[in-house]
Amino acid sequence: MHATIVLLPGDGIGPEVTGAAERVLRGVADRFGHTFTLSSHLIGGGALRAGQPPLPDATCEACLAADAVLLGAVGDPAFDSGPSERRPETALLQLRQVLGVFANLRPARVWPGLEDGGAFKPERVAGADMLIVRELTGGIYYGEPRGVAEDGQSAFNTMRYSRPEIERIAEVAFRSAEIRRRLVTSVDKANVLETSRLWREVVTEVGARHPGVTLEHQYVDSCSLLIATNPTQFDVVLSGNLFGDILSDEAGAVVGSLGLLPSASLGKRGGLFEPVHGSAPTIAGRDVANPIGAIASSAMLLRHALGAGPEADAVEQAIGGALGAGLRTADLASGGGLASLSGSAMAQQILDRVVDPASV
Ligand code: IPM
Ligand code: MN
Repeated sequence: MHATIVLLPGDGIGPEVTGAAERVLRGVADRFGHTFTLSSHLIGGGALRAGQPPLPDATCEACLAADAVLLGAVGDPAFDSGPSERRPETALLQLRQVLGVFANLRPARVWPGLEDGGAFKPERVAGADMLIVRELTGGIYYGEPRGVAEDGQSAFNTMRYSRPEIERIAEVAFRSAEIRRRLVTSVDKANVLETSRLWREVVTEVGARHPGVTLEHQYVDSCSLLIATNPTQFDVVLSGNLFGDILSDEAGAVVGSLGLLPSASLGKRGGLFEPVHGSAPTIAGRDVANPIGAIASSAMLLRHALGAGPEADAVEQAIGGALGAGLRTADLASGGGLASLSGSAMAQQILDRVVDPASV
């Protein structure tokens, strides 16, 4: 197979973790006899520092032409006070829109052996395995009108969802549930918001077309509590853009570290793949960041954008193998008192297992 993959290392720990994922992708290409053409482009704070907009045209064009895009992170405190057209995060929001990747899949499972790695009681999180299906190109992130009043004394955003937008993301959730444990929990705030009442109505209609899947509705506040107290009850968690953003960070605490979580953003073609963690500027450049979120995102890229299932399985098995051998990066080591590996050492351990699973 030949595939063109665009790498967008971005800001903070983005370059370190993307570098790790790139090495793993090259390892996959070697082992399975594929040719991957990989090229890196500027985005976010890096682009701003180079005097360009956060999403330069050249980057955008490369992403549109590629089979898949792997992004590290965007976000740089130096630009925190700027207007939105000069914020690194704007690049990501534009890119998601340009690529039309409305379906963001965020799988969060507790790896065996990591039950005590997170913030919650090990006996409660053991076996948790959920897939957050987050709507990614609508809702309050994009709703118009938005802005700041002329006198600067008030600001406003609009949460807006249309039937077709809800329908297509609900379809993704139900189809995902059909090949999992056949439960969809739809998250909303229907006791308060009109958008949520429409959301609930449309999700229920879509659910009726999938009789093999059980549908439950949860208010976002109560869902957030249940993810913390009883995460094993969830299979597919379907939510709008803002609620899914918040709940997926909480899922990071359940699985042990946000640094473990991958994501796939899918639309009509290709896709955008990125770890759920952000740029983490305070630990950038010290080789302590956990590369697993990015490496697991490359596995999702192989599976969803390139249709390379066995290759994706090989990467996920390598991650499981490294964790199963007790290897831990700093974010995971604190609780269990295990010695911690640098990010690059962890990446190497995973790569060794990808290249030659029998050797380790
Ligand atoms: C995420 C991030 C982004 C989001 C930011 C960086 C724009 O938090 O992917 O979860 O809010 O979607
Ligand atoms: Mn987020």
